[in-house]
Amino acid sequence: MPILEREPPKGRRESYVLPKVPVPPLKQTLDMYLSCMKHLVKEEQYQKTKAIVVKFGEPGGTGELLQKKLLERSDKTYNWVYDYWLEDMYLNQRLALPVNSNPAMVFPKQNFKDRKDSLRFAAHLITGVLEYKERIDTRVLPVDFARGQLAGTPLCMKQYYRLFNTYRLPGHKRDTLVIHKPGSIEQEHIIVACKNQFFVLDLVVNKKKLKEMDILTQLEKIVKMAENSEERQPPFGLLTSDGRTEWAQAREVLIKDSVNRESLAVIEKCLCVLCLDNPSGMEVGDTSRALLMLHGGGHEKMGANRWYDKPMQFIVGEDGVCGTVCEHSPFEGIVLVACTEYLMKFMTGSPSKMGRATSVSELPTPARLLWKTTPHIQDLLKASAERLQRLVRDLDMDVHKFEVYGKEFIKKQKMSPDAYIQVALQLAFYRCNGRLVSTYESASIRRFHEGRVDNIRSATSEALAFVKAMTDEKASLSDSEKMKQLWDAINAQTNYTITAITGLGIDNHLLGLREIAQELKMERPEIFTDETYVASNQFILSTSQVPTTVEMFCCYGPVVPNGYGCCYNPQSDHLLFSVTSFHGSTETCSAVFIKALDEGLVEMRDLCRKSNKPQSSAAPAASKAVVNNQGAGSKLPSTLQKTMK
Ligand code: COA
Repeated sequence: MPILEREPPKGRRESYVLPKVPVPPLKQTLDMYLSCMKHLVKEEQYQKTKAIVVKFGEPGGTGELLQKKLLERSDKTYNWVYDYWLEDMYLNQRLALPVNSNPAMVFPKQNFKDRKDSLRFAAHLITGVLEYKERIDTRVLPVDFARGQLAGTPLCMKQYYRLFNTYRLPGHKRDTLVIHKPGSIEQEHIIVACKNQFFVLDLVVNKKKLKEMDILTQLEKIVKMAENSEERQPPFGLLTSDGRTEWAQAREVLIKDSVNRESLAVIEKCLCVLCLDNPSGMEVGDTSRALLMLHGGGHEKMGANRWYDKPMQFIVGEDGVCGTVCEHSPFEGIVLVACTEYLMKFMTGSPSKMGRATSVSELPTPARLLWKTTPHIQDLLKASAERLQRLVRDLDMDVHKFEVYGKEFIKKQKMSPDAYIQVALQLAFYRCNGRLVSTYESASIRRFHEGRVDNIRSATSEALAFVKAMTDEKASLSDSEKMKQLWDAINAQTNYTITAITGLGIDNHLLGLREIAQELKMERPEIFTDETYVASNQFILSTSQVPTTVEMFCCYGPVVPNGYGCCYNPQSDHLLFSVTSFHGSTETCSAVFIKALDEGLVEMRDLCRKSNKPQSSAAPAASKAVVNNQGAGSKLPSTLQKTMK
């Protein structure tokens, strides 16, 4: 969600108390679940599901029992869904982190004169990171307030405190999100990756923090050391690009040796990783830069010059390809945007303070991390490299700037830009596949204590009616009929958004009911083994709005083999889309999807223009409420109205 940085009143910084995420009423969730799925499954299947859901929700039934337990859990915890959600969304997932899980933020292309110039940029970037981290540590980050729908409420800041002190440790069945307690400042270090080698850059030497010039000096030493082929170590970063179980198994082999144990411990405790990339040799465009961020181009390019478990990993390529790739479990893209926008502004706004440096001889040589390898470990590295290569070959990515119009045009139609784009995505999908599918749109629930996200299920029945009106029934319907369908679709989407961001979405609730049943060691209730439930969690279209106010964009991969990942960044006069899919699927093609999206967006604009008279009679309550954000408070659930102390 767009965030507004506002200085909180003096002395009241973060002195507000956020409400707990509510547990939605059971009947409301079950009814919504049925209406979300009715038009996405066959009628016969739907009737079966309906009977199962009715039984689950009947008085004295399983649903009521689980709801009661969930309410008890809510009483006892700060956030009843947080752990369930974290495990389900991330820690239980076994797929490799690159492409499948880690999002990337692509910075504007830099024009470096030479390697030294790129190192200067890197040193300045790290200085910015340290400045930002200090703001986090001293708790002076201004509180975020919601913008857009239901603007004005303060948002939970917890995710910021997980940017630099977390690590995702691989496990055989489940990973662990390790949160490091603040240690002594003298131990603060970053890891620098260069030519697939890992170096420790201590940030405090002789009790003095390194200055930017010192960081540059150390980076230069590292680049030189990385050239030394005699001391070159095997590309151990590759192991972190593998499936989580494979990496956990490999890690178990590695830690038998104390050298490996020590190297891993140093990496796991670093603040962030800085990857100094060689030129990739790829033509530098938006799509190729996004690919290099997501997977590094495989082991032959920069894919091994990474440590994917580390939440914050900055990439500075000699060819000007720069950005971050992040382990997603500790924070959402919106927090990442806030951090990276700060850094971009720091980079352009505050000149390098190269000043007087500590003498080179006073600075200890950065340590190269050493690894003990065996033929078995070599085989593991080879297998990881091959699997990464498969992922690289399979990813079909297209970054597209739609320049015909942007969110200002949509606002002029008195429509929510986000809802409009979501409806356009449904239209594009229908055009390509002749059906709608379970769709995920992340909805921030940071209005609540430790809130992360819930799901806006954008494939509404109203969206289906609209996309049919624009395709199958195109010839038989008048423009005003189509326009009415568009309004219905936009309003359904806007209403769902409000439901989700106020903590009343159905995905978290159903997950909670499922997990609490497991905790109670009950047999899994039929509602969760039913075919419809399985389909409802196959997000063939996985979408997210990640808006930025400086020139950069976010991207990520699909979440199922036959799906699309679509990250969009609405700007005043254009819309940026990063679309991903897998070549291996015969059902998807990113370029075809983009083309359909382009055409649909133009047709929607033409439709709006043709129906140019004000749509006030058709514009229903949801949209009007959004225009007048000041009045939105009255739509808030009572839990949110008593937010401020
Ligand atoms: N008429 C005119 N203007 C309208 C309008 C209407 N009917 N409805 C909304 N607008 C305006 C808003 O006031 C807002 O104005 P601003 O740009 O001046 O702030 C703008 O249009 C955007 O609003 P909207 O398009 O409705 O979206 P939103 O900003 O409320 O965002 C979500 C909606 C769902 C994306 C947001 O609530 C959210 O949850 N974001 C988090 C997503 C996330 O987590 N992403 C990262 C995942 S890793």
